[in-house]
Amino acid sequence: MKRAAVVLLAACVANAAFAEGDANDAARARQGWVLNCMGCHTADGSGIPGKVPALRNSLGHFVGMPEGREFVMRVPGAANSALSDADLANVLNWVLATMNATTRPAGFRPYTAEEIAAHRRPALTDVARARAGLVHRLQADGITSVPEHY
Ligand code: HEC
Repeated sequence: MKRAAVVLLAACVANAAFAEGDANDAARARQGWVLNCMGCHTADGSGIPGKVPALRNSLGHFVGMPEGREFVMRVPGAANSALSDADLANVLNWVLATMNATTRPAGFRPYTAEEIAAHRRPALTDVARARAGLVHRLQADGITSVPEHY
């Protein structure tokens, strides 16, 4: 009897953790990255010169600005991915934690499924223009490590 109760409790705890939107589930985030983003952005997020921007280090700078935080949710590769809102939040938080640990702002609030749902659509149509505005804002703040042209 006691043993059954322990097993039941363990099952409940596991379910509760899963139901919380997987916001901190690194393994699931990594899988989402591999299946939905890595093919273009490369395994370590360095991108492909002339074609695909790096996500390593630069995203931390973008999310430090409200418009940059929104930009990251609305770029077509993220916004139009097959990932659910919760999984996209999870993948973005994982990219920020693992590839942007030194540039992510100290008080960074992780993306939530609700925030993604409210902002991911419509996807940006003029990405280059939105990005240029953000890069110029960073440069004005003395941050020159995010390249204007990738
Ligand atoms: C088919 C290739 C492709 C896939 C898949 C892809 N991206 Fe991208 N991503 C790009 C390209 C190209 C850009 C440059 C902007 C544009 O043209 O959309 C970009 C830009 C971005 C940016 C803005 C970075 C910057 O410096 O401007 C973010 C953030 C981003 N992608 C996140 C993701 C995430 C997260 C995924 C997976 C859910 C993903 N992308 C999947 C090709 C891709």
